[in-house]
Amino acid sequence: MDVARRRGAHAALATTALLASALALSSAATAAPGKPGEPRYSAGAAGAGDPYFPRAGNGGIDVQHYDLDLRYTPPAPAPAPLEGRLEAVATIDLTATQDLDQFNLDLRGLTATSVTVNGKPASFTQPGDLAVERPEGSTPQPNELVITPRPKLKEGRSAEVVIEYGGTTRQPVDIEGVPYGWVTTRDGAMVASEPEGSATWFPVSDHPTDKATFTFDVTVPKGLVAVANGDLTGNATTGNWTTWSWDAPDLMAPYLATATVGNFELTEYTTKAGVPIIDAVDRDIAGTNRTTTNATLALTGKMMEFFADVYGEYPFIAYGSIVDDDSLGYALETQTRSLFSRRATEGTAAHELAHSWVGNAVSPQRWADIWLNEGWATYSEWLWAEHRGRATAQTAFENVMAIPADDEFWDVVVADPGPTGLFLAAIYDRGAATVHALRAEIGEKAFSRLTHEWVDRYDDATATTADFEALAEEVSGQELTAFFDVWLHTPGKPTAW
Ligand code: ARG
Ligand code: ZN
Repeated sequence: MDVARRRGAHAALATTALLASALALSSAATAAPGKPGEPRYSAGAAGAGDPYFPRAGNGGIDVQHYDLDLRYTPPAPAPAPLEGRLEAVATIDLTATQDLDQFNLDLRGLTATSVTVNGKPASFTQPGDLAVERPEGSTPQPNELVITPRPKLKEGRSAEVVIEYGGTTRQPVDIEGVPYGWVTTRDGAMVASEPEGSATWFPVSDHPTDKATFTFDVTVPKGLVAVANGDLTGNATTGNWTTWSWDAPDLMAPYLATATVGNFELTEYTTKAGVPIIDAVDRDIAGTNRTTTNATLALTGKMMEFFADVYGEYPFIAYGSIVDDDSLGYALETQTRSLFSRRATEGTAAHELAHSWVGNAVSPQRWADIWLNEGWATYSEWLWAEHRGRATAQTAFENVMAIPADDEFWDVVVADPGPTGLFLAAIYDRGAATVHALRAEIGEKAFSRLTHEWVDRYDDATATTADFEALAEEVSGQELTAFFDVWLHTPGKPTAW
């Protein structure tokens, strides 16, 4: 679904971006002049119009559903190379948002072998010139699967696109060189795709503005477990292979999808509030990592109640945590099933759970808006620590403000950190400090209205920093331009606001 366009307030912005990128990227030659109302077929843009990642997402299409049928062979034991094999079929339901004679999906590092559109074979390419560099400065890799449907797709037409694809899996990295996407591990894979790593494991409109529902059938060697988003709908073993089926009916930004494979033990229960939980903990986690993880996971129900008070009812059909014995060096708020490296600590678990509301239900409209995710999730972590009788949010705020003014921490423009600055400490900690300072500025009543209304208004959709500023002004009746200028749009340590 094109969530940016589901909201009247954003329609203008989204359409402008779409048009701009369509004009820049489509081949003008395919558009023939016609009478008004006649089809004018052209190619969909190669990107959703996000300035940080111009090839992420796609123009001219709006995906409703991904059905991913994956067969995965993990690496052989060491010293065999750390490479897996993926053989897959993606069935994608989408709608044309313009008259299309061609459209793209994002696909990187894997090869498509067959494409049909509404049952008819379509020609397709993965051109070398439509590439991205991950990390920055490395060899560019093709990032676009260009599909030519016949018959052409008229605006508003829905299409079922079936893509057979596959290849060797390794350890893809993001623009900074940090592992993401389908990260092959010795006992499976850790799958964590923020910001635009979904293209490393399925053909996708890889941008938060195109949320969709998902179903998964993940077939892995018997004994391994594949854990995806949503509900577990079954597992079936045939010969030496087990297929794990998952249903994720909540709208989801593609970067939040996972299909993590490992030696997991599943634990299922329902919280007092009635939310079904499925945790997956790697059987090889032992010692303090195991005791820490167990203690953290035992708090899930309490944490969910706490954040439901802050933001409103938990927004999805299920929750749970995946704790792998392998490490990405970070955790990710994969929707309904947060993913942890080696262990789950209490603070990180609170952070990832809070992302359900801030990040997942409400997602950034452009990657420049990432502080809306990380600042709020970090502030949520502060609130949970205070609730548990540890440091207060005020103390956490003072700790940030104790960073010397000449520290490079303060050099970041929080609302525009650049594509290599998405996960800088300032996005998290100055972002959280911004929230705390705002709370003091507008008072408890307006702050509570803000947290609830933010999630209510932009649930299942995306929002910008400007939307956030406007809502803060709306709920408080205060003029906050100077405040947000200092905290979000200007580098340098805030001294007065
Ligand atoms: N959103 C994650 C968190 O803060 C961090 C993801 C980092 N991803 C990356 N590609 N470096 O919980
Ligand atoms: Zn986070």
